[in-house]
Amino acid sequence: MKFTQSFKSFTQSPYRSIKHSTYFEVYDHLFLPYKGKPITFVEIGVLGGGSLFMWRDYFGPQARIIGVDLSPNASKWQEHGFEIFIGSQSDPHFWNNFKAQVGRLDLVLDDGGHTYEQQIVTVESLLDAMNDGGLLVVEDTHTSYMKGFGQTRYSFIEYVKQKIDQINFRFAKFSTKPAEKRFWSIEIFDSIVAFRMNRQASQLKSELIDNGGQNDHAIDLRAQAQVASATHSTSTHSKLGFLLRCSYLKKVMVKLQQLIKYNKATYKKYFIG
Ligand SMILES: C[S@@+](CC[C@H](N)C(=O)[O-])C[C@H]1O[C@@H](n2cnc3c(N)ncnc32)[C@H](O)[C@@H]1O
Repeated sequence: MKFTQSFKSFTQSPYRSIKHSTYFEVYDHLFLPYKGKPITFVEIGVLGGGSLFMWRDYFGPQARIIGVDLSPNASKWQEHGFEIFIGSQSDPHFWNNFKAQVGRLDLVLDDGGHTYEQQIVTVESLLDAMNDGGLLVVEDTHTSYMKGFGQTRYSFIEYVKQKIDQINFRFAKFSTKPAEKRFWSIEIFDSIVAFRMNRQASQLKSELIDNGGQNDHAIDLRAQAQVASATHSTSTHSKLGFLLRCSYLKKVMVKLQQLIKYNKATYKKYFIG
């Protein structure tokens, strides 16, 4: 933590800011490539203004630093050269107005009210305004495991879990499932979730590609091993053995065997609960 550039900027801020000790490694990991660049950075949650100064120091004079807060008190930081927008992050109309005035965004850091509604509405409202290469970062996501921030079933982390499924639904064979193509990837840290924007990559058609290299006719043992174990387990001289040579029955047998095998799976111990 102490050796990160974000921690240095944090300690140099003239006004108070409170962050968790684990966040600085994550900030540097995510934000270092944007340092010194003419980016648009938005932080939701201004409070005492300390983090606005931290980010100005961190990103440098070329960055446009914008603060969003529910409290009108935050407007005073405009005198220090920050752009401040007053409103609620859980209000999609507020974000529509915000986007119309601000334009495209490179980095968003949500350190606002931390309820599930606020976090989810913020992500959903800002995704279409993000530049490619940008990051939409939500912090204090540990509230998803705490009382008082909304309905557990619809917590921010439950939303993120669905988004993980939807990233995988981009795979060609799942074309009927609702794939997520607005962002490319999600990176998850202790209490921080980052959505990375890359429209070209996230909309790429999912298909098998052959590199045209020499084929040495290697045998893929995956399917063979399953069929072999299914047919082997029953005597080939029995009536059932004969039936199993029929491909449909073989498939059923393989499925049954898989079910039994997975139920006894040794790797179950790697799951919680
Ligand atoms: C954790 S503090 C921000 C701390 C600040 N980023 C820092 O590091 O010093 C949370 C801020 O979010 C603001 N906030 C709470 N609910 C909000 C909402 N619905 N919309 C916008 N801001 C909100 C609060 O007014 C408060 O200033």
